[in-house]
Amino acid sequence: MANDIWSTKIQGILNLDLSREMRFRDDRKDLFLSLLGLAKGMTILDIGCGPGAITRKLSTWLGEKSKIIGIDRDTEFIKYAREKAIRMNLHNISYFEGDALKLPLEDNSVNACISHTVIEHVPNKEFLLEQKRVCKPKGRVSVMYARPDKYISTEPDSLPARSEREEELLDKLSEESDEVDKEYNIGKYWPDPVGLPKLFGELGFNNIQIDAIAIPIVIDDSRNSIAEKVAIVESEKEQLFESIDMAACLKKNRLSDNELTELKKLISERTNQRLKFIEEGKNIWDYTILLLQVVSGMVD
Ligand SMILES: C[S@@+](CC[C@H](N)C(=O)[O-])C[C@H]1O[C@@H](n2cnc3c(N)ncnc32)[C@H](O)[C@@H]1O
Repeated sequence: MANDIWSTKIQGILNLDLSREMRFRDDRKDLFLSLLGLAKGMTILDIGCGPGAITRKLSTWLGEKSKIIGIDRDTEFIKYAREKAIRMNLHNISYFEGDALKLPLEDNSVNACISHTVIEHVPNKEFLLEQKRVCKPKGRVSVMYARPDKYISTEPDSLPARSEREEELLDKLSEESDEVDKEYNIGKYWPDPVGLPKLFGELGFNNIQIDAIAIPIVIDDSRNSIAEKVAIVESEKEQLFESIDMAACLKKNRLSDNELTELKKLISERTNQRLKFIEEGKNIWDYTILLLQVVSGMVD
């Protein structure tokens, strides 16, 4: 039976695709590959792959001799990921719809398992045990998750501020999504920073490692072309718009149709002001830094 709960009620395709495209930028390739212990020729499983941004990066980074497998429970994500891989001529990826707690793979069949922002939504022990089962001896299981306590943002004076009305409507929107998250156990299993490496040990993993990657998203960074700067600003708007469209479909009635339209207008106005700074060549240094924690262990 088709399952589209995540893509229609929790996070849409654009939200995941655009944000991951920025996190897994090509200039972070060597960092990600070395921390996750990934190399050419490996068979790598990405669990809870969503619309597939990370699988496509790995496919490109590691080349034809490697095999990338993406698994997710959401039918729409898998459909989108398959179609996009075909469009991009990426022949070394395959996607399966399936449960992370009951992977549709044989024992000892992959060299490495990775997951990005998935562990917090599933019972941690069962999640890791299933990866241990499908991983070959000497394979590595790496779990990436964002530390909620380490999300840093600057708020320069020249940043176009959200009006009181926009804040009010955004608050209502997030109340609505909090309700949905609760209904579907989203974030119910957030790993304890001490408990997670301990759990790896208790489950029999070796060579347990903890790493962290700080990921800055900086519009004004001089390495970004004008088009890239515009793309970051536009992508933030697209992600918010997608959340608004999803809220409209949920029909919990916290926000009326008029309010949803009003919210989009306010966001567009603020986005246009931000784009104007780019057009004028003015840097205002509004940026965020996300801290991604990586816990990994090796299978005997
Ligand atoms: C926050 S999203 C992350 C998606 C992707 N890893 C990324 O970073 O773009 C969490 C993903 O986990 C998937 N997921 C949650 N529970 C799952 C389960 N039990 N089995 C398979 N996928 C699951 C959701 O469908 C969703 O795509």
